[in-house]
Amino acid sequence: MTNVHEDVQNYYGQQLQQTTDLKTDACCSKADVPSFIKDILKKIHPEVVAKYYGCGLVFPPKLEGCRVLDLGSGAGRDVYILSSLVGAQGYVVGVDMTKEQLDVANRFIDYHTKAFGFEKANVEFRLGKIEQLTDDSGMKTNSFDVIVSNCVVNLSPDKKKVLQQVYEMLKPGGEFYFSDVYADRPVPEDLRQNKILWGECLSGAICESDLISGALAVGFTRPILVATDPIGINNVELQKLLGDIKFTSCTYRLFKSKSIDKSTNSDDKLGALVTYQTSIVHYENEFQFNESITFKLHGEPQYLNAELVKMLRMSRYSDNFKFEPITDEKQIPNTTNQVSNQQKSNDQSSSSCCCRPGTC
Ligand SMILES: C[S@@+](CC[C@H](N)C(=O)[O-])C[C@H]1O[C@@H](n2cnc3c(N)ncnc32)[C@H](O)[C@@H]1O
Repeated sequence: MTNVHEDVQNYYGQQLQQTTDLKTDACCSKADVPSFIKDILKKIHPEVVAKYYGCGLVFPPKLEGCRVLDLGSGAGRDVYILSSLVGAQGYVVGVDMTKEQLDVANRFIDYHTKAFGFEKANVEFRLGKIEQLTDDSGMKTNSFDVIVSNCVVNLSPDKKKVLQQVYEMLKPGGEFYFSDVYADRPVPEDLRQNKILWGECLSGAICESDLISGALAVGFTRPILVATDPIGINNVELQKLLGDIKFTSCTYRLFKSKSIDKSTNSDDKLGALVTYQTSIVHYENEFQFNESITFKLHGEPQYLNAELVKMLRMSRYSDNFKFEPITDEKQIPNTTNQVSNQQKSNDQSSSSCCCRPGTC
């Protein structure tokens, strides 16, 4: 075990007892919670809620019946919300390396099974490291529809390994949807050695360029940004150490590549006009694909470039959309700035700097 793992276990197992013990606001999500999630939250045990250390919302649409894995599930708040969203036919596994966190999560399995009205539990918690998922003989590779994680990858000393392990565990076409802490520049080594700053999810913060290169290297589609929230440190002493570094909570979605039926995608080279045509429960009005593309149900078709069309077609969302391939460049509408901006910001950041779009 590396020292980083031991230090993080100590931070989350011994030093912190609840959210209010955190020394900064990095692991405290400020994101607006949709009303259907608020309704589920009312059923989550207060002891579990009090030990929430997440920085975003990790509940993508269309989870009913899915097998979901939560990396670094902590006291289990998100696993229990996901339990309700996947329903009795779905299943959620939480993995965490800190025994004290896992003990809390395990203590409330029966409570939530009853609260959600299920006959039997649809969750389990496993002690383990997110860099070693494939070593756990209790979990099969290629077996999860969705993998989520909330404010955990930044704590890993080997983020590339985590991406590779996530790829192994997902089914082809499966989605990795995760919120984490990003820095607008590499964090200097002396700050990376600071155990409190690491435990607070700051000095191990991810660089967007590393996420993109790491994801593409293991075979994921290009990560797409779904949501961002600036992070305030709110601690004078720690802020002084961190200086000008800016931290942002970002939620990304990535898909595990899957070959798509040739008959459906052969005409997608120039992209397609895409319509959200069959509604998904809780998303009856609109579906947000990334930070700048939101589809209205039965709304105007939106142009997606070939890369984004491929992602949507390979995903579990595919059946809810109508794709009209573009056959002539002249048909590509002028209003493509949303797509090209996302593309441009990804391309820029994948060169050398680790800036988040808009932060430097
Ligand atoms: C910031 S907390 C987030 C917990 C949970 N996702 C939540 O939102 O409340 C980080 C959690 O990740 C776990 N963790 C950190 N690094 C890990 C690793 N390499 N493998 C497994 N668990 C890890 C810690 O034990 C801790 O419970």
